This record gives sequence, C-alpha cells and structure tokens, in this order.
Amino acid sequence: MGLLKIRTYPDPVLRERAEPIHRIDGFIKKLAKDMAETMYAAPGIGLAANQVGVPKRLIVLDLREREGQGGLVVLLNPEIIKASGSLRHEEGCLSIPGFYAKVNRYSDVVVKGQNLEGEDIEINATGLLAVVLQHEIDHLEGRLFIDRLGPVGKELFRRKWRKLRETEDAVQ
Ligand code: NI
Repeated sequence: MGLLKIRTYPDPVLRERAEPIHRIDGFIKKLAKDMAETMYAAPGIGLAANQVGVPKRLIVLDLREREGQGGLVVLLNPEIIKASGSLRHEEGCLSIPGFYAKVNRYSDVVVKGQNLEGEDIEINATGLLAVVLQHEIDHLEGRLFIDRLGPVGKELFRRKWRKLRETEDAVQ
C-alpha cells in the first residue's frame, strides 16, 4: 500500500505548472500506482500528480464508480489536441474538499499522451470523461476548477472556505 497525502487548497504546489515526464523510471511507475490507490481510497474519480505534491505531468482517472464502466487510466504528459461543444457540469476536487460548483467545459475533447509503457495513446472523450480530463489537465497547469467560476461562484467559494476554516480552527 502506498497511500499518499492529498494536498489541499491553498497549498502552493497546486499552483505549480507540472514538468513533462521524459523518462518512465521506477519513481514514475510507483507514483502512478500510489496515485491510483490514493484516488480509490479517497474515493475520487481523478487525481493529478501535483495533488500529491509532485509537480510532474501525470494523471490517473477511473469513472467506474460513477458510470459503472471504465477502468484505470494512467496518462503521462496529457494534452488536449481537439476540443468542441460545451457543457456545464457540477465539479468537486479532492484538493478542495466540501465545495462543489458548476463549471463550463468543452463537451468533446481528444486528449493525447503516453501510457506507463511509453506508448502514445489518444482518448476521444465526451461527457463526464471529457470533464474529468479537462479538470485533471488544468491541475497540471496549476489551475483549479474554482478559477473557472464566474464572480458569483468565486464569492460562494470564498464564503464557504472561510466557514470551513473557522470550523477547523474551532476543532483544533
Ligand atoms: Ni481536482
């Protein structure tokens, strides 16, 4: 077992732009495995490496729990090469526990990257899969879903966060 600590807002590592992965060594393989375990344990449907404090371009996701199908996807150096359409979907994030909000995203994306064997892969995604890929790739750019909210959503987040912090302070 290798459960990793999930960094939460406003940890500065969440604002770092992740570095490309040029060599798939033991560290990267173990990181991918531990990230998958951490995501399942949370539980969550996606996780980016910055969220466990490693600013490298690596994401894991699995929609099985939400959609009843799928499986573990490990993607290195993911990149959106085509995007179209739009949808609005309620998002949350393991790094911003307790806050959910609707975010505008592309409804269709084509993402390319590499798997752990270093092979190029391309994913044609729509709906929730497209949303999760965009959310996780944003993490690699140091971007969070709250950045994509309008002024009202951002204000709601500020209030909620203030309240959560007060509750935490009261507990400690
Ligand atoms: Ni997230």
